[in-house]
Amino acid sequence: MRAETGLLSADETAFLTRQRVARLATADSDGSPHTIPVCFAYDGRNLYIALDEKPKDVPVTRLKRVRNILENPQVALVADRYAEDWDLLAYVMVRGRAELVETGTDEQTAAVRLLRGKYHQYERMRIEENPVIAIRPERVASWGALDAPGGEAEPLLETLKGRRSVRRYLEREVPDNVIEKVVEAARWAPSPHGTQPWRFAVVTKRETKERLADAMGEEWRRNLEMDGQDAAVVEKRLEGSRGRLLDAPVLLLLCLYPGDLDAYPDPERQRNETTMAVQSLGAAAQNALLAAYEQGLDAGWMCAPLFCPGEVTAALGLAPELVPHALLTLGYAAGDPPKRRSRRPLDGLVVYRD
Ligand SMILES: Cc1cc2nc3c(=O)[nH]c(=O)nc-3n(C[C@H](O)[C@H](O)[C@H](O)COP(=O)(O)O)c2cc1C
Repeated sequence: MRAETGLLSADETAFLTRQRVARLATADSDGSPHTIPVCFAYDGRNLYIALDEKPKDVPVTRLKRVRNILENPQVALVADRYAEDWDLLAYVMVRGRAELVETGTDEQTAAVRLLRGKYHQYERMRIEENPVIAIRPERVASWGALDAPGGEAEPLLETLKGRRSVRRYLEREVPDNVIEKVVEAARWAPSPHGTQPWRFAVVTKRETKERLADAMGEEWRRNLEMDGQDAAVVEKRLEGSRGRLLDAPVLLLLCLYPGDLDAYPDPERQRNETTMAVQSLGAAAQNALLAAYEQGLDAGWMCAPLFCPGEVTAALGLAPELVPHALLTLGYAAGDPPKRRSRRPLDGLVVYRD
């Protein structure tokens, strides 16, 4: 099956449509090249690229890509897939003539709709106030495993599989903007009724970590002694746990905020409401772990605060109604990175019912 232009095959069309970014090459009248990454959409006939500069700040005709197109409409656009498994490499290159499609025309309106459908970020940008670039394909070339299963590389699955618990860190600071992305990711977790019944505390100062470690250590010592553990074992375990807290450059505490929960007259529904909130806190924690890993950070999960919530809120000066659940340690792994734990095979976890 061929696409409407007669130029792109079904595989080329499918590949191009799935790609989130491509490189646009233009040249000025002297043939001097200019290449930039672009977001684009393909309607089966033409390719469209938004000009997302604020209309009043920079006249679009000042942009190099636009100046080039006006001087020399011949362009090329390449969308490619890179993967460590080189059997998955592929690209599609489209050459054609580019032009600006003016605002308010049916084609520009349709292109804006298409681009917003593909990139939700455009919904908040006034791209309709600028012309769009249209590329009318004239020639296409492609190579590689365009139809490889899974389509483009699967960055999310790679991140999911790559993440692993780390318990020892280098003495290296974590930049503030990296920490912020971790908590930002946590914020986007699903939650019951969308209530986001969690609050997070970020701890980086040594004195605060010490206060926390002291408070948690005392409570843990009481518990271990109550369990009848040998004194030497108790000391060793306490020392290990204290070290983990103090040596991690950043601690991220995830607390439940019961004030955000719905109230029910019967205890069973109230219990379920709490369970849902805790489930969503787990989702927030996983978001945070993945965002950390994706940024080259390492992380570990400590459940200890769950066993001494009052001590933790007091040590950190947090509102007493918060219920600490999970403490994530964040930093850069020391020594050899730990091996990933294996997972049970899928067929031991899933049944399919038609
Ligand atoms: C709710 C929860 C509590 C955990 N508590 C601890 C903990 O207190 N100490 C610890 O070293 N790891 C803790 N972990 C991490 C698990 O041991 C770890 O995720 C598991 O062994 C799988 O290894 P991986 O994270 O490297 O894939 C916890 C994980 C979860 C989900």
